[in-house]
Amino acid sequence: MRVAVLNGPNLNLLGTREPEIYGRLTLGEVERAVRRRAAELEAEIDWHQTNHEGMFVELVQGLARGSDGALINAAAFTHTSWAVRDALLGVRPAFVEVHLSNVFAREPERRRSLLADLAVGVVAGFGWRSYVSGLELLIAHLRDRGG
Ligand code: DQA
Repeated sequence: MRVAVLNGPNLNLLGTREPEIYGRLTLGEVERAVRRRAAELEAEIDWHQTNHEGMFVELVQGLARGSDGALINAAAFTHTSWAVRDALLGVRPAFVEVHLSNVFAREPERRRSLLADLAVGVVAGFGWRSYVSGLELLIAHLRDRGG
């Protein structure tokens, strides 16, 4: 089982970026936690982060090649990017949308996701644990679907 993890803009600043909202772990530390859980679940992780919308679109398109599913934290692109939505519609990967913060408890603009209706589900508000729970739920979903 191969799971891609796609991280959008400014997530490279985790650890120092608004820690009261996003927590004190760096993205590298979140990655290590995800890889540790993936190893226990016998899954391989392809980890990506980009600040560029076009690159994010390329990464989504790349899910068609070799990934069984994805965890996606599109960060601000979640709320703004029709290009990312269109890429997901073009490829239709099985993915779980994850957010560190509870976007539904924040500004009205963050309560809208252009991606969530295409996802298997959404995990938001649990900090780095959103990623680990999202991974567990995605793998369970993929294994159920695979029979
Ligand atoms: C985020 C929430 C987004 O609204 C924000 O733009 C981010 C991070 C989260 O993980 O909580 O950059 O996706």
